[in-house]
Amino acid sequence: MNFSNKLINWYLMHKRSLPWRETTNPYFIWLSEIILQQTQISQGLPYYNAFIEEYPAVFDLAKADEKDVLNLWQGLGYYSRARNLHFTAKYIANELNGVFPDNYNDLLKLKGIGDYTASAIASICYNEVTPVVDGNVYRLLSRYFGINTPINSTAAKKEFKVLALNLIDEKNPGDFNQAIMEFGSRQCKPQNPDCNNCIFNNSCLAFKDNLVSVLPKKNKSNSIKNRYFNYLVFTSDDNKTIIEKRQSKGIWQNMYQFPLIETEKSVKLSELKKTKEFILLMDQYQYEIHQFNDIDIIHKLSHQHLHTKFWVISVFRLPSKGISINELKDYPFPTLINNFLKAFNF
Ligand code: ADE
Repeated sequence: MNFSNKLINWYLMHKRSLPWRETTNPYFIWLSEIILQQTQISQGLPYYNAFIEEYPAVFDLAKADEKDVLNLWQGLGYYSRARNLHFTAKYIANELNGVFPDNYNDLLKLKGIGDYTASAIASICYNEVTPVVDGNVYRLLSRYFGINTPINSTAAKKEFKVLALNLIDEKNPGDFNQAIMEFGSRQCKPQNPDCNNCIFNNSCLAFKDNLVSVLPKKNKSNSIKNRYFNYLVFTSDDNKTIIEKRQSKGIWQNMYQFPLIETEKSVKLSELKKTKEFILLMDQYQYEIHQFNDIDIIHKLSHQHLHTKFWVISVFRLPSKGISINELKDYPFPTLINNFLKAFNF
């Protein structure tokens, strides 16, 4: 049996039953694939169900408020994916009468849809022979063929795409694509895969040459940037606080946060009080301030480490832009702030 037949047989026996596997409706496939780029299937499933329940069709998502879409996306991270999802739903609803493009090339033109998502939708919904190459596929192929090319290099993209194109089942590209991803994530796992019980162990080069633990290769990623965040958490006697929408491009655009002062290094209260932003903002208040966390909370993103302090500031009254603490749940916050809200019992 060839690679593809073996793989699909394995898949038919082992595949998990999942709601997006019961359909070829491109709206559902698109949603599931965008969510699954962010997280594993078990963690993605509740998000998928929540989106489908709230927005059963592309027209519903198109009509939604961006704030509500971001709210449902909370915890998945990489919020530009959610903004693009919403943008593209509006485009499909308003410009394409709700009809998804039915081929790889046209799907690729949509915002937020790259090679991976276009290949997944085109193969699963329209049987187009377009291989998906995600992290699981890189790992499996790199081991099976004993390939040393670093998988985060530009050369790898082309090389692995060509390999996958040679392997894909032309009659059944959708199942092949789902099978290769599922096999990569469940059998050909990053750490300690069970190679003795693998359908490919008599043809896998990494297994033969004892290279499973060193493949795939990866280039060391660019250095991590350290940033120092000071959030000002106001609380007033009438249970209000201040939040603002994060406008700047980069992380968390359009998500909400407490007023933020970013500093060059981790600061003590006396240093915080000397910053221009603090002086400008606090001039109008009589306040008491205390530090919520003694040690910086370090929130790790893919390319940044955020060293964070929450400063709790008690005031008597807030100006009109204050919102009631009960309303905080209606706003989308990044996980860093949601964790604080829980710990602080807000
Ligand atoms: N990972 C992401 N999308 C997937 C799919 N459709 N099947 C299996 N694993 C996946």
